[in-house]
Amino acid sequence: MRTHVAIVGAGPAGLLLSHLLAQDGVDSIVVETRTRAYVEARIRAGILENSTVELLRSCGLGDRLDREGDPHRGIYLQWPGERHHVNFADLIDRKVWIYGQTEVQRDLGAARDAAGQQIHYEATDVALHDLGTEQPHVTFTDADGRALRIDADAIAGCDGSFGPSRAAVPDLAKQTWERTYPYSWLGILADVAPSTDELIYAWHPDGFALHSMRSARVSRFYLQVPNGTDLADWSDDRIWDGLAARLGHGQDGWALTPGPITDRSVLPMRSFVMAPMRHGRLFLAGDAAHIVPPTGAKGLNLAVADVALLAPALTALIRKKDPGPADAYSDAALRRVWRCTHFSWWMTTMLHTGGADGGDPFDAELQQSQLRWVTSSTAGATGLAENYAGLPIEF
Ligand code: FAD
Ligand code: PHB
Repeated sequence: MRTHVAIVGAGPAGLLLSHLLAQDGVDSIVVETRTRAYVEARIRAGILENSTVELLRSCGLGDRLDREGDPHRGIYLQWPGERHHVNFADLIDRKVWIYGQTEVQRDLGAARDAAGQQIHYEATDVALHDLGTEQPHVTFTDADGRALRIDADAIAGCDGSFGPSRAAVPDLAKQTWERTYPYSWLGILADVAPSTDELIYAWHPDGFALHSMRSARVSRFYLQVPNGTDLADWSDDRIWDGLAARLGHGQDGWALTPGPITDRSVLPMRSFVMAPMRHGRLFLAGDAAHIVPPTGAKGLNLAVADVALLAPALTALIRKKDPGPADAYSDAALRRVWRCTHFSWWMTTMLHTGGADGGDPFDAELQQSQLRWVTSSTAGATGLAENYAGLPIEF
């Protein structure tokens, strides 16, 4: 097969890239290892920042988001005895939207169906070749067992943190940075109306907790747990008791309403960056190039921002034979990646405690001092708001 851009991975980065390229008259073929049903059902991110929403609207993907998405003016930050609202809308005139990654993925899938996009789900043996030439190619075995090859002008590596694209860049041609955190998140989805109007990020001596949501009837919660936690050790009662204690059930009359748990998982927390985000005619986007811990709600938004830069860069390279934007892509994307990496690290270290191991009392005092400052100083709150609600794509 022959196309302009071979896209590896049909997650949000890969499908949005194929959508934006098609709008600019650039063809692509997408290769994905999983089934479509699996990709569309994965419970992941829940918050879209302002620039993500604007981008989705501008490329015709905003209709259901505008109907069903829930705009939030800010978030609550709390610690035992106190809960404070940080109001992004008042501080910087920007909001965030509750709209799950599952919904973004379904909207993208429907839009690509309507455009007749070629996507090979359930591919195996996906491999990238000749990246240093102007005619790279991708080989794979399709769902029917046929060995196939895609010749392209460029390959977009949108295959997440475990895909083959990053590994295809020789060690000598890349630099990587990594931080693993000494805790994980136990995440649950529950069929119950949220007990809050906007997200609650809670610092607590037992460990961090987050009350998020997906809709008026579905809530999402996270508990900080030690690395290596076995889900079998967490009964429903233990989960709800932990959430109630950390989120402040009974504090100023607030109550947490439990409900049936429909999904549960343990997520490790990691920061990772690879540079440059390009090797010859291979361009990386999203989790393939960088991972952030979810505390800043940035993973999906960063993937969208990468693609918003990459699509015009590939269009210029392929349609106008202008290599300028493609040459500038990695530096431009990494500027935002490092800002979000810092913000995610900052939120993570401000909110996670020693948990069951006790933790360092000095760190605990610093964290509470930082929380008091962020929630009481306009300068402190504005810094959080600018980063959380999202910087402009061209930042
Ligand atoms: P992905 O969504 O990972 O998509 C990559 C795609 O490539 C996948 O469909 C994968 O199957 C495919 N692929 C892999 N290998 C191959 C191959 N060999 N060939 C072809 N295709 C391949 N972010 C938040 O902001 N908030 C959250 O709460 C949150 N929770 C998360 C929970 C989990 C379990 C994970 C893994 C991530 C979470 N994230 C969260 C991060 C967020 O979901 C990601 O940043 C986002 O999905 C990035 O999109 P992407 O398209 O770059 O990568
Ligand atoms: C979520 O709803 O899944 C979510 C929200 C905010 C975060 C992380 C996850 O910071």
